Parts: sequence; C-alpha cells; structure tokens
Amino acid sequence: MLTQLEIRIVPNAADLFQAAATEFVSLAAQAVKNTGRFTVALSGGSTPKGLYTLLAGGSIADIPWDKVFLFFGDERHVPPDHPESNYRMVRETGLLAKVPAKNVFRVHAENPHADAAAQAYEQTLRQFFHTPPVEFPRFDLILLGLGPDGHTASLFPGTTALTENHRLVVAPWVEKFQTHRITLTLPVLNRAGCVLFLVSGADKTNTVRDVFENKAPDLPAQMVRPQEGRLLWLLDQAAGSGLSHKS
Ligand code: 6PG
Repeated sequence: MLTQLEIRIVPNAADLFQAAATEFVSLAAQAVKNTGRFTVALSGGSTPKGLYTLLAGGSIADIPWDKVFLFFGDERHVPPDHPESNYRMVRETGLLAKVPAKNVFRVHAENPHADAAAQAYEQTLRQFFHTPPVEFPRFDLILLGLGPDGHTASLFPGTTALTENHRLVVAPWVEKFQTHRITLTLPVLNRAGCVLFLVSGADKTNTVRDVFENKAPDLPAQMVRPQEGRLLWLLDQAAGSGLSHKS
C-alpha cells in the first residue's frame, strides 16, 4: 500500500510548531479513541524544542496526557543529564512532566556498552507493545528531523544501521561524530501510523530538495516511507524554498 505522502510548507518556525501541535492533538484524539492510548517516539536535536515547549505550555487544549506514552526515536551515547542527551533536551522543555513518569521510556544510554543499551531498549519496546520476535511495534506517531547530510533519527548515510531489518534498535558507530548513537531502525519507522518530519531553516533547503527531487535515493530520510501510514513533512518556508513543486 502506497504511503500517503503530504508536504506542507508554512511561513515560519512558529507556524511550524503550531501546525505540528495541531497534528499531535488530532493524532492523540484518534489514537486514544481507537486504542485507549497514544504512543509517540520523539525526535532529538534542536528543531523539535519549539514543538515540545508549545505542547508543554498548556495552551494546546485537549490532550489526554495520562494516556500519552513517550519514547525516543534515538539517543546519543551519553548519560541522561549530559548536554547532548535528547532525554535532557525534552525534559528541559517541560514535556516529560506532562505525562505520568511511568509513561516515559528513555534509552538507558548511560550504559558504557552502546549495543547493550540498544538491546535493552528493544526489550522495553517488545514488552510494552507485546511484539513477537519477528514483528515490529507500531507507534501511533514518530517525530523525525532531517540532518544536512540527509540522516534522520540516528540513521546516517553509509552506516550498517540502514540495512538492519530484524532488530528494532541498534547502536551504530557514527564516524563523523566519533561516537555511537542508539536509534530505532527503518522497519520500526516504516511501521508507524504516522511519521512527521519537522524541518526548519535555510540550512536544510538543499537537503529537502535532494530528498524529494534527487533521484538517487540513498539518503536515509528518503527511506522512511511508512507501509500503512501517513508520511507528513512539515517545512517552514526557509527549509522548503528549494522545492520546485510547492504544495
Ligand atoms: C538527533 C536527531 C537528529 C536530528 C537531526 C536534525 O538526535 O540529533 O535525532 O536526527 O533530528 O540531526 O537536527 P536539528 O533539528 O538540530 O537540525
């Protein structure tokens, strides 16, 4: 089944976060109505801070926070209080405090053995979603960002993580950063009910254009196409200005 692809370009970052928050509310309502819960894998980096802060701020009504379950799409190989930690970034926005502590599932990236941290997180996911060994969990929403090299989550070009099709979570060595990362794998991303890319800024213009108009599909972000779900790219004008076909 072809993925429902939608590219939406909004004027600026504030509109981007508002649009993403509106989607979050709508997806949460739908998921809770259908299953009684809303499972979300959060993206890291800097772009989503504006969304998490907006959601945490309380101005976005009607989110059944007690039924929201927060996971991480990837994590740096650092302790949770490290400046590079995605968990710390999200915690500092106030978003984690909106849900019961038992509903937050962080990657235990303080483990000196990155692959052990990945395996432990995989077990956490399999137990939470009751996922049999050969199947993949279906998140209601997976938030993703886009790196200038076309990476997403911690799936970087040229890494073995891109060809992993059994494990849910892996810990690739990322040469450019001289460190391991822990990341969900493509089969998990492509199993999601909705994948929402949030991309802002002129530094992403060329990469966004390459994702959609470069016919050599070797960018990790191009490999994210949920089999039975929505694929929504939310771009601000700066990030989307290189696209020849505006939506
Ligand atoms: C991370 C993210 C990563 C991020 C992109 C974009 O852990 O850093 O998962 O994939 O989304 O690198 O980062 P910015 O939003 O900071 O540009």
